[in-house]
Amino acid sequence: MDPIEQVKAIQEKALSEVAGASSSEELTRVRNTYLAKKSELTSLMGLMKQIPAEEKAAFGKVLNDARDAIQAAYDAKSQGLESAALSAKLASEAIDLTLPGRTLCQGRVNPYWIIVDEMSEIFASMGFEIVEGRDVETDHFNFEMLNVPKDHPARDMQDTFYITDTLLLRTQTSAAQAHTMLAKAGKEPIRMICPGKCYRRDDDDMTHSHEFGQIEGLVIDKGISLADLKGTLELFVRKMFGEKREIRLHSSYFPFTEPSVEVDVSCAACGGKGCPMCKGTGWIEILGAGEVHPHVLEMGGYDPKVYSGFAFGVGVERVAMLRYGVDDIRRFYQNDVRFLKDFSEK
Ligand code: PHE
Repeated sequence: MDPIEQVKAIQEKALSEVAGASSSEELTRVRNTYLAKKSELTSLMGLMKQIPAEEKAAFGKVLNDARDAIQAAYDAKSQGLESAALSAKLASEAIDLTLPGRTLCQGRVNPYWIIVDEMSEIFASMGFEIVEGRDVETDHFNFEMLNVPKDHPARDMQDTFYITDTLLLRTQTSAAQAHTMLAKAGKEPIRMICPGKCYRRDDDDMTHSHEFGQIEGLVIDKGISLADLKGTLELFVRKMFGEKREIRLHSSYFPFTEPSVEVDVSCAACGGKGCPMCKGTGWIEILGAGEVHPHVLEMGGYDPKVYSGFAFGVGVERVAMLRYGVDDIRRFYQNDVRFLKDFSEK
């Protein structure tokens, strides 16, 4: 065959094999066959000797053109295969962004603790220290140090869960009063609050729970009067329920305070005119308080001739119920996530 024809035949064959290669391995094999040093094309170079001098240039050109054409076809095909492989990889590893994600079950803070935190912050801003009491108390601290001896009728209202004859689940955070006084050894002034759970043998209903929270407050110093109590509670109520709230004190009885008062806050729902929320009175009772009884001071190591003080006890759930319009105290303890969700933004 004429050498030029041979070159053309090889070129054609090579081009069709390049075009037919379906993988880069196949393509590499084609390149090795036609473009490597020892290929059919380079072996045709050997024919150069037999070619008459005047045709050598033309033959050389045909050879070069053939090699260039095969190389160009190879390059184009190689690029095509590479991008096809990339597209296939991308397609196979694609993430479907339209799939809805798995929802996370997020925990929420019980409104009980939202209120404890807020009240703690309010009192801390007034310089109160936060004291931790104990859920299991002795009869001595829960009752006797608070002027409630064994046969006192006030015990009837605070029947509780007894562990032994003298150990019980505390019925009131007031038990922390004597602990604090004794810890300060009757010398230092006291300004503390004690948040904590209390327990009573109550039948549970919308407004009673055998487990509930209180925040105790105790201030002892020289010259503390009922006016200090009123000022402190007024500030607390306004920070907790709004600037427009008023408080009023009316007399009450607790064995460990004298005088004793109950504190009402003007109804936020009607502004004091009277509505179902405040049972038509315009006022809602929120806490018990009073001047610390001289005998309680004395038992705690403070000389009542030198020191005086006030104490108060606020129901945590009571505050939360008023603040958030919750109608049933049991909700705080049922752990219904739908209820908890309502308070996520507050
Ligand atoms: N401990 C009282 C109660 O549980 C409330 C109270 C606290 C009253 C402090 C006066 C002073 O009812």
